[in-house]
Amino acid sequence: MKLVWWFSVPKIVFGDDALSELEIIQGERAIIITDKVVNGLGLADTVSNKLCERQWSTAIWDGAIPDPKVSTVKEAAEAMKQFGADWIIAIGGGSVIDTAKAAWVLYEKPDVQLDALTPFDILGLRAKAKLVCIPTTAGTGSEATKAIVIRDDETGRKFATINPELTPDLALLDPTFVVGLPKDFTAYTGMDALTHTIEGYISVWKNDFSDGCSLQAVKMIFNWLPKSVEDLSDLEAREKMLVAACLAGMSFGNSQAALAHSLGHSMGSVLRLHHGLSVGMALPYTIEFNCRDNEDCASQYAELAGIIGITGKDHVKVSMKLAEAVRDLMGKIGSPRSFAEAGVTRDIFDEGLERLVEFAMMDSSLTMNPRNTDSHEIRKMYEYMFEGKVIDF
Ligand SMILES: NC(=O)c1ccc[n+]([C@@H]2O[C@H](COP(=O)([O-])OP(=O)(O)OC[C@H]3O[C@@H](n4cnc5c(N)ncnc54)[C@H](O)[C@@H]3O)[C@@H](O)[C@H]2O)c1
Ligand SMILES: [Fe+2]
Repeated sequence: MKLVWWFSVPKIVFGDDALSELEIIQGERAIIITDKVVNGLGLADTVSNKLCERQWSTAIWDGAIPDPKVSTVKEAAEAMKQFGADWIIAIGGGSVIDTAKAAWVLYEKPDVQLDALTPFDILGLRAKAKLVCIPTTAGTGSEATKAIVIRDDETGRKFATINPELTPDLALLDPTFVVGLPKDFTAYTGMDALTHTIEGYISVWKNDFSDGCSLQAVKMIFNWLPKSVEDLSDLEAREKMLVAACLAGMSFGNSQAALAHSLGHSMGSVLRLHHGLSVGMALPYTIEFNCRDNEDCASQYAELAGIIGITGKDHVKVSMKLAEAVRDLMGKIGSPRSFAEAGVTRDIFDEGLERLVEFAMMDSSLTMNPRNTDSHEIRKMYEYMFEGKVIDF
């Protein structure tokens, strides 16, 4: 069988003066897609003013919400159409960036059904507009991926899909745009980045390019995430985490996420827990699950563990220690390690369990997990996650 792989990333500009790239892009009408919190910080105005100095026309649409719904995306697409944008500039966390990416699809191709979009569809994007992403969280890496995660209005289910054309044209990484992010979201979004880099390294679609990104990102996250949570104004830590999250996006965006994302998307859908909190909580349990009966996967975890100084001949034992190190990191930064720690009561958990399992089983990331699983095991994993028990099956 003949195989062909792509490694796609946007042009990435990082550092103190990353926004200077806005002085050379060619266009006339930019719509800024953001949310009310980020807009309130004046970040959209900063970008708009830069473009207006060059006689561009700009508009700001700040209707994005956490875990965007299809209906939110349609509103953003309508705003793009009304304004006649030739550039779309997303300023925000993953929710804003995914809103902009998905709305861009509908702006260019109004008939596309987002939940039916596949990696193989030819969309013909960029006939009307190009996309710049300026992340304000150091987490999702969505500014570098071809992925979107959108919530179905009726069922509340978050669905993830990829299409190569969705890779943004430009990603601008400016640490001053992240500095306002509070402690809890700094921790949770950092855990999302760690989950991307670890899952990108063990996914069945892993490849040498994505591996290179993962290895650097894992080192940077263990080093810089505690510092960025400890001192929210530490610009060096913010910049390193922004770069690490983008590298992690380049990794999983070109390999794929796995079981922790299936469990986590479902937690976001059913319990409305933040994405990074959810996938981060699931991560150590999935390491413990995947490393059993799968020497290849255990040796991959062991390679990652080696980067943070955990070594040994028995790869399963080393993988289990990696899971422990992830839990220690979460303890240090205050990211919940169990449902109980996240404040989910037994009643709420029991009430949601059926749907948690159902949605996790439907999630696309499950396909790329190195160990096959079923609804019985997933239910058991959630039970262990409620109590904070180490996986032993
Ligand atoms: N497309 C992808 O590749 C990809 C990857 C991972 C996650 N996601 C999706 O991204 C979403 C999560 O994104 P997120 O974790 O970045 O969180 P988010 O975008 O939902 O933002 C979380 C909160 O932080 C606020 N915020 C953002 N930046 C801020 C700043 N600088 N200062 C103060 N407040 C700020 C937001 O207003 C929001 O209230 C989820 O829907 C998830 O499924 C997408
Ligand atoms: Fe994620």
